[in-house]
Amino acid sequence: MLIISCLFLLNFLAPTILGLGNVPDQVHLAFTGDLTEMAVVWNTYEDASQDVSYTKQGSSDQKQAKGSSEQWVYNGIIRYKHKAVMVGLDYDAKYDYSIASRSFTFKTLPKDPSSYRVCVFGDLGYWHGNSTESIIRHGLAGNFDFIVHLGDIAYDLHSQNGQVGDDYMNQFEPLISTMPYMVIAGNHEDDYQNFTNYQKRFVMPNNGYGDNQFYSFNLGPVHWVGVSTENYGYYYQYGMEPVFTQYNWLKADLTEANKPANRAVRPWIFTFQHRPFYCSNVNSAECQSFENKIVRTGWLNMPGLEALYLQNSVDMGFWGHEHSYERFYPIADRTYYNDPSAYINPKAPVYLISGSAGCHTPDAEFTKTPWPWSAVRNNDYGYSILTVANSTHIHLEQISIDKNEQNVDDFWVIKNAGFQYQHSESVRIGAKKFPPQKCHIRDLPCMRTLQQINEEL
Ligand SMILES: [Fe+2]
Repeated sequence: MLIISCLFLLNFLAPTILGLGNVPDQVHLAFTGDLTEMAVVWNTYEDASQDVSYTKQGSSDQKQAKGSSEQWVYNGIIRYKHKAVMVGLDYDAKYDYSIASRSFTFKTLPKDPSSYRVCVFGDLGYWHGNSTESIIRHGLAGNFDFIVHLGDIAYDLHSQNGQVGDDYMNQFEPLISTMPYMVIAGNHEDDYQNFTNYQKRFVMPNNGYGDNQFYSFNLGPVHWVGVSTENYGYYYQYGMEPVFTQYNWLKADLTEANKPANRAVRPWIFTFQHRPFYCSNVNSAECQSFENKIVRTGWLNMPGLEALYLQNSVDMGFWGHEHSYERFYPIADRTYYNDPSAYINPKAPVYLISGSAGCHTPDAEFTKTPWPWSAVRNNDYGYSILTVANSTHIHLEQISIDKNEQNVDDFWVIKNAGFQYQHSESVRIGAKKFPPQKCHIRDLPCMRTLQQINEEL
């Protein structure tokens, strides 16, 4: 008991004892939605007023970005979240920046970049970060421009009173202080205090609601949309209102992005979220369990997401949650298109799960027989590299950590200029419609839920 008490006290006091209370740590960047800006977020354990100095390399013109500071408390531990936005940045330029005694560098993207690379993954922990070393090494080598983390961060951000979240962010700081780290919440981000650790550690593009649960940004030919599936997953705890708030925002955001004038400039719409619509993992009853269904189809008077994606011709979607990799044929409400040219001018969204970066559970288990809409499955640890090659070509690779960084999947999605699928019955002629949903035989909660749904219908 004495030892436990001492450890707790040490954990509580460590930053102060070490004299680190005012030293910025967990420094990381994020897009604001404007490529002439870059948000920088950091942490201190003591109250401090800190700004950011930044200079374009080769220039003597040093600028200041005013930092804001906000105290937040989790389980009695006081932290200070700092944020500043560096503005007036030149495109395609390298910058040095410093906060108090610490210095970093980053590079801006070109104006309306026609090509760039993104590291996409979900479900990566501090203690089981199988992909961490590889991601940091390749990122520092310039092999991608930013990161999209599909939720379940650190396992968990709030563990050990937030110490695990601190350690995870510091572990990644060498990389994410140099490039944007774009995140969305997973179920592990619920810290029993309404996602406080997630809300207070990250700043994402402004969604007009003062939070970071959902947001969008434009980058070259792509409109990127981060969507929370956790307001569905935790509706019984935090109420239905967050579902409606997001849905109304999302509907307006996608409607705007899908206007012909905007599609002409940015032909692709990509969504990223934590919980998948489809999967063939045993543990989630092949995504027929309630927690997946509620996100895809809705529940009670909460609308689901899939129909909204189809109505606005979303092109691709990236998911985590399942601790594996799975690529799907273009699919719309279980109608799928698996012809040899399925990924050329796809007739429905192309989704993939990339949730195998490194988690707290051993190898994911797939069902013996995949769904017919499952194109590729792999349960090695790893992460995805997405390349926006130009306005018509998207390339995806799945990197296996287990197989020494080999590609275990490699495919292109091609969309001719001006092509856009429309979700209508005419498009679905000739497509294969799968029989109604089912539950995995082991998934008793799912079976009970389906029975309940059928009774209510
Ligand atoms: Fe998850």
